Amino acid sequence: MADVPDAAQAFRGRSVVSADDFSKEEVLALLDAARAYDPVQRGDAPLPPSLQGRVLGLLFFEPSTRTRLSFESAMLRLGGSVLGFSDARQSSFSKGESLVDTIRVVEGYCDAIVLRHPREGAARLAAEVAGIPILNGGDGSNQHPTQTMLDLYTIREAAGALDGLRVGFMGDLRYGRTVHSLASALLHFDVDLCFIGPENLQLPSDLRDTLKAAGRLGSEVELLSDAGALDVLYMTRIQQERFPDPMDYERVRNAYRVDRAALEPFGPDLKVLHPLPRVNEVATDVDDLPGALYFQQTRNGVTVRMALLDLILGGAS
Ligand code: NCD
Repeated sequence: MADVPDAAQAFRGRSVVSADDFSKEEVLALLDAARAYDPVQRGDAPLPPSLQGRVLGLLFFEPSTRTRLSFESAMLRLGGSVLGFSDARQSSFSKGESLVDTIRVVEGYCDAIVLRHPREGAARLAAEVAGIPILNGGDGSNQHPTQTMLDLYTIREAAGALDGLRVGFMGDLRYGRTVHSLASALLHFDVDLCFIGPENLQLPSDLRDTLKAAGRLGSEVELLSDAGALDVLYMTRIQQERFPDPMDYERVRNAYRVDRAALEPFGPDLKVLHPLPRVNEVATDVDDLPGALYFQQTRNGVTVRMALLDLILGGAS
């Protein structure tokens, strides 16, 4: 794509480790650039194979459907190729190889790596040792920055703007990495935040302190009915796999569920997002509401990741 503005140029050759690493101008430049990759906006006209001959590594040490396949789809649609694994037990990890060694090896096979890993900080470590861009596809309960970019894109395209919104986050505020990434990225914008979740699944203290210091913690409530008016409701799955004690999961697993009736008081303009997968926290009767955006979100994942890969790997300039 021609005409790449300066803020978008800043993506060239860069790792994407945390949503906090990007300025407001850079985030907006990516969201603007992504429109050109949106099949709806471009009338489904084919894009030039700008990443032909480039290879994306996909190293997934944790389960994934959307993140892995949408990166794969994005790379293939731009004419590039992919390699990697989706089950670390089939890699030399099972023989005891360290993450650092794996990265040092795989960087010789590709031009950028998407890494999903259960350990917080794994992407930062990989980015420090790698000579190619590392894209964090989720590191433990810490960050999921490319999900945040597609969440912001989805909200902006649906609501027309990011400023002026009241955004509620509901569910697993403690372990949900998509919540952590998105809440901190929203600090760039003039939004009111509201956090809805049980007492033992509240935000981690470092993020809570950051939001508080910025005067943006907003309200923290246990029940959706106490949240007040909302423009966006960002639902999350209770992250069963991150609970040290399975009994704690049992206590909250059915506590956070919305259905059409529960959303009625928020009016027809409410936008409901969810990074997916859902378990039972969003009833299927919500799916037909015009504001139910979670399947649109998954499609936007390809759009935004195409823009990101093209900018990082230089196909866009
Ligand atoms: C999320 C994740 O892996 O953090 N999924 C995704 O990437 N869309 C959310 C989740 O697993 O609950």
